[in-house]
Amino acid sequence: MSTKLSAVKGMNDLLPEQAEVWEQVEAKVGEVFRQYGYRPIRTPIVESTSVFVRAIGEVTDIVEKEMYSFNDALNGEALTLRPENTAAVVRAAIEHNLLYDGPRRLWYFGPMFRHERPQKGRYRQFHQFGVEALGFDQPEADAEQIFMVARLWKALGLRDGFAPKLQLNSLGMPQDRALHREALVHYFQSHQSRLDEDSQRRLGSNPLRILDSKNPEMAELIANAPQLPEFLGDQAREFQQRLLNLLNEQGIAFELNPRLVRGLDYYNLTVFEWVTDRLGAQGTVCGGGRYDSLVERMGGKPAAATGFAIGAERLILLVQEAQGLGRPSAPDAYLIHFGQGARESALKLAEQLRDQGLKVVLDPGQTSAKSQMKKADASGADLALLIGEDESLAGEVTVKPLRGQGQQATMPLSQLLATMDRRKQDNA
Ligand code: HAM
Repeated sequence: MSTKLSAVKGMNDLLPEQAEVWEQVEAKVGEVFRQYGYRPIRTPIVESTSVFVRAIGEVTDIVEKEMYSFNDALNGEALTLRPENTAAVVRAAIEHNLLYDGPRRLWYFGPMFRHERPQKGRYRQFHQFGVEALGFDQPEADAEQIFMVARLWKALGLRDGFAPKLQLNSLGMPQDRALHREALVHYFQSHQSRLDEDSQRRLGSNPLRILDSKNPEMAELIANAPQLPEFLGDQAREFQQRLLNLLNEQGIAFELNPRLVRGLDYYNLTVFEWVTDRLGAQGTVCGGGRYDSLVERMGGKPAAATGFAIGAERLILLVQEAQGLGRPSAPDAYLIHFGQGARESALKLAEQLRDQGLKVVLDPGQTSAKSQMKKADASGADLALLIGEDESLAGEVTVKPLRGQGQQATMPLSQLLATMDRRKQDNA
């Protein structure tokens, strides 16, 4: 007996009911991003491993533990399934000289891969809606992205406690971070015996990443560690204040969270997350911030930048909890046919109705009238259009309302086409 085949753990199938919700969310997200002048970019799912190592940082959870990396068997190239897409977008922008005539607003949607322990809201293949604003160095750009996310929550019907809440922090300028680093090293050195193995190692290489530890035994030690905001210089403070003023003016609520450090090394100044308590442990729906030195570090001319990514699975779980979207539209009509001649007429009529922009479903081949009626009912269509041998020969069709009060009526095809066209105009 052959073994049963199943999807890879942490990688999900999306069956039609779910995939239809995804399509609706994708459409809304695209609509909102376009309103702000973002243009789409699509990059490969596989990149050279060095793209991610250089951008995200060698001593991070993602690079150390979570990447799906392999050597191309043909040429030995070190490759990685993208764990995030900021690195790849920056790589593409540099490679294709996208910033040659000024800043760029870019957005993407697609699968990302991280080898994490799967649970609700955390998967090994997950999807992100992301934006990257390259070449923007002012806090207005950060503010605009936050406005955009807030607008998106509304567009998706996330209100009354379902909208994620904004948390903000500043990671400062490089000199501020150097001071913070020194203080962190000093602090953790004086508590060295309480550090786990990972953190011992990070103490020498990247002490900020000790703060990402998920080890509960270190939670208290981390909670009492020196926090970045204490080390911010004037430039970082002024930048943050300008951003906060813009958010206040627009009525966007936020909470300053001095412990928010994000898990990737490329950030400076603004970092933010939108979190919800409706999804259990994996409540961060969106995360991002400013990364002013990444373009240069990846080999481009210096260009400040800011961006974020929304976890699509988490967003869609939330939208479903809030019942923020309607059901996808039912067919305008379900066509039912009995007999060989009728089948051909039905196929032809369906095409004519689709020419009018209508959504029409019918069973191909030979199925009983009873089973077709059942499917018509289940489809949610308002009308069944019946064609038997008699109707087919006479060039007629019988219209049977499936919902509401209307009467069944037989009419010539030309009249049906006109009626359907009118219904479409009325419903538009
Ligand atoms: P990130 O915080 O690693 O940032 O991921 C962004 C979002 O992706 C998270 O807030 C979460 O909603 C979702 N996410 C991450 N890992 C998983 C997972 N294993 N399963 C399900 N959802 C997940 C970035 O990736 C940055 N590239 C964001 C960015 C863009 N920063 C600047 N530009």
